[in-house]
Amino acid sequence: MNEFPPKKSSVRTITGSSGNLSVIESLNDISFEIKRIFYISNMPKESERGFHAHKHTKQFLICLKGSCEVYLELRGKSETIILKENTEGIFIQNEWHIMKNFSEDCILLVLANSHYDEKDYIRNYEEFLKYSNEK
Ligand code: TYD
Repeated sequence: MNEFPPKKSSVRTITGSSGNLSVIESLNDISFEIKRIFYISNMPKESERGFHAHKHTKQFLICLKGSCEVYLELRGKSETIILKENTEGIFIQNEWHIMKNFSEDCILLVLANSHYDEKDYIRNYEEFLKYSNEK
Protein backbone atom coordinates (compact mmCIF):
# COMPACT_ATOMS: atom_id res chain seq x y z
CA MET A 1 0.00 0.00 0.00
CA ASN A 2 1.49 3.34 -0.94
CA GLU A 3 2.26 5.91 1.71
CA PHE A 4 -0.18 8.82 2.05
CA PRO A 5 0.45 11.67 1.77
CA PRO A 6 3.53 11.07 -0.37
CA LYS A 7 6.71 12.75 0.83
CA LYS A 8 8.72 14.79 -1.63
CA SER A 9 11.70 12.89 -3.03
CA SER A 10 14.87 14.71 -4.04
CA VAL A 11 16.06 14.34 -7.58
CA ARG A 12 19.78 13.60 -7.78
CA THR A 13 21.28 16.90 -8.87
CA ILE A 14 24.80 17.80 -9.89
CA THR A 15 25.37 21.49 -9.31
CA GLY A 16 28.14 23.70 -10.60
CA SER A 17 28.99 27.24 -11.56
CA SER A 18 27.42 26.64 -14.97
CA GLY A 19 24.11 25.33 -13.62
CA ASN A 20 22.31 22.22 -12.41
CA LEU A 21 21.99 18.80 -13.97
CA SER A 22 19.26 16.62 -12.50
CA VAL A 23 19.06 12.95 -13.35
CA ILE A 24 16.61 10.11 -12.83
CA GLU A 25 17.71 6.64 -13.83
CA SER A 26 15.19 3.85 -13.79
CA LEU A 27 15.64 1.56 -10.80
CA ASN A 28 18.63 3.53 -9.44
CA ASP A 29 16.81 6.76 -8.62
CA ILE A 30 13.22 5.69 -9.09
CA SER A 31 11.55 2.47 -7.99
CA PHE A 32 10.08 1.68 -11.39
CA GLU A 33 11.06 1.27 -15.02
CA ILE A 34 10.08 4.40 -16.95
CA LYS A 35 7.91 3.50 -19.95
CA ARG A 36 6.38 6.89 -20.68
CA ILE A 37 7.19 10.56 -20.25
CA PHE A 38 4.76 13.40 -20.74
CA TYR A 39 4.54 16.98 -19.65
CA ILE A 40 1.84 19.59 -19.44
CA SER A 41 2.48 23.22 -20.23
CA ASN A 42 0.70 26.40 -21.26
CA MET A 43 -2.06 25.93 -18.67
CA PRO A 44 -4.39 28.93 -18.31
CA LYS A 45 -4.21 30.40 -14.80
CA GLU A 46 -7.62 29.20 -13.62
CA SER A 47 -7.42 25.77 -15.23
CA GLU A 48 -7.53 22.52 -13.29
CA ARG A 49 -6.49 19.14 -14.64
CA GLY A 50 -6.55 15.55 -13.53
CA PHE A 51 -9.81 14.60 -11.78
CA HIS A 52 -8.93 10.95 -12.05
CA ALA A 53 -7.06 8.13 -10.36
CA HIS A 54 -5.13 5.21 -11.79
CA LYS A 55 -5.67 1.58 -10.94
CA HIS A 56 -2.07 0.46 -11.41
CA THR A 57 0.04 3.15 -13.08
CA LYS A 58 2.83 4.61 -10.95
CA GLN A 59 3.90 8.17 -11.67
CA PHE A 60 6.57 10.58 -10.53
CA LEU A 61 5.72 14.28 -10.88
CA ILE A 62 8.28 17.08 -11.12
CA CYS A 63 7.52 20.72 -11.72
CA LEU A 64 10.32 21.59 -14.13
CA LYS A 65 9.51 25.28 -14.28
CA GLY A 66 7.20 27.57 -12.30
CA SER A 67 4.88 26.09 -9.71
CA CYS A 68 1.59 24.31 -9.23
CA GLU A 69 -0.49 22.58 -6.58
CA VAL A 70 -1.39 18.91 -6.59
CA TYR A 71 -4.48 17.92 -4.60
CA LEU A 72 -4.34 14.26 -3.61
CA GLU A 73 -6.96 12.07 -2.00
CA LEU A 74 -6.76 8.46 -0.89
CA ARG A 75 -8.61 6.29 1.62
CA GLY A 76 -10.54 9.25 3.06
CA LYS A 77 -7.49 11.50 3.52
CA SER A 78 -6.54 14.47 1.41
CA GLU A 79 -3.52 16.73 1.05
CA THR A 80 -2.42 19.52 -1.25
CA ILE A 81 1.24 19.55 -2.17
CA ILE A 82 2.97 22.54 -3.74
CA LEU A 83 5.53 21.68 -6.38
CA LYS A 84 7.96 24.45 -7.25
CA GLU A 85 11.50 23.05 -7.23
CA ASN A 86 12.73 21.03 -10.18
CA THR A 87 15.05 19.08 -7.90
CA GLU A 88 12.24 17.25 -6.13
CA GLY A 89 9.11 15.34 -7.01
CA ILE A 90 6.34 13.16 -5.68
CA PHE A 91 5.31 9.59 -6.38
CA ILE A 92 1.64 8.99 -6.88
CA GLN A 93 -0.15 5.77 -7.59
CA ASN A 94 -3.80 5.28 -6.69
CA GLU A 95 -4.65 8.80 -5.52
CA TRP A 96 -7.47 10.88 -6.92
CA HIS A 97 -5.50 13.89 -8.16
CA ILE A 98 -6.20 17.40 -9.32
CA MET A 99 -3.49 19.77 -10.55
CA LYS A 100 -4.25 23.47 -10.17
CA ASN A 101 -2.97 26.97 -9.41
CA PHE A 102 -0.48 26.77 -12.23
CA SER A 103 1.97 29.63 -12.57
CA GLU A 104 2.04 31.08 -16.07
CA ASP A 105 5.37 29.42 -16.85
CA CYS A 106 4.53 26.05 -15.25
CA ILE A 107 5.81 22.90 -16.91
CA LEU A 108 4.87 19.72 -15.07
CA LEU A 109 6.78 16.61 -16.06
CA VAL A 110 5.40 13.13 -15.40
CA LEU A 111 7.36 9.87 -15.54
CA ALA A 112 5.18 6.77 -15.67
CA ASN A 113 5.78 3.04 -15.42
CA SER A 114 3.20 2.13 -18.05
CA HIS A 115 2.13 2.97 -21.55
CA TYR A 116 -1.00 5.07 -21.91
CA ASP A 117 -4.07 2.94 -21.30
CA GLU A 118 -7.48 4.54 -20.80
CA LYS A 119 -8.64 1.33 -19.05
CA ASP A 120 -6.25 2.12 -16.19
CA TYR A 121 -8.11 5.38 -15.46
CA ILE A 122 -10.91 5.91 -12.96
CA ARG A 123 -12.51 9.16 -14.07
CA ASN A 124 -15.69 8.91 -12.03
CA TYR A 125 -15.28 10.12 -8.44
CA GLU A 126 -17.97 7.81 -7.00
CA GLU A 127 -16.27 4.88 -8.70
CA PHE A 128 -12.93 6.00 -7.23
CA LEU A 129 -14.40 6.05 -3.70
CA LYS A 130 -15.76 2.57 -4.19
CA TYR A 131 -12.53 1.30 -5.73
CA SER A 132 -10.25 2.79 -3.04
CA ASN A 133 -12.42 1.45 -0.21
CA GLU A 134 -12.32 -2.01 -1.70
CA LYS A 135 -8.53 -2.00 -2.03
P1 TYD B 1 -5.43 13.18 -19.10
O1 TYD B 1 -4.61 12.10 -18.51
O2 TYD B 1 -6.90 13.19 -18.81
O3 TYD B 1 -4.79 14.60 -18.71
P2 TYD B 1 -4.98 15.55 -17.44
O4 TYD B 1 -5.26 14.70 -16.25
O5 TYD B 1 -3.70 16.32 -17.35
O6 TYD B 1 -6.13 16.46 -17.71
O7 TYD B 1 -5.20 13.18 -20.67
C1 TYD B 1 -5.66 14.23 -21.51
C2 TYD B 1 -5.80 13.67 -22.91
O8 TYD B 1 -4.53 13.25 -23.41
C3 TYD B 1 -6.73 12.46 -22.99
O9 TYD B 1 -7.47 12.57 -24.18
C4 TYD B 1 -5.81 11.28 -23.09
C5 TYD B 1 -4.57 11.86 -23.76
N1 TYD B 1 -3.31 11.22 -23.31
C6 TYD B 1 -2.62 10.40 -24.17
O10 TYD B 1 -3.01 10.17 -25.33
N2 TYD B 1 -1.47 9.81 -23.74
C7 TYD B 1 -0.97 10.01 -22.48
O11 TYD B 1 0.09 9.46 -22.12
C8 TYD B 1 -1.71 10.86 -21.58
C9 TYD B 1 -1.23 11.11 -20.20
C10 TYD B 1 -2.88 11.44 -22.03
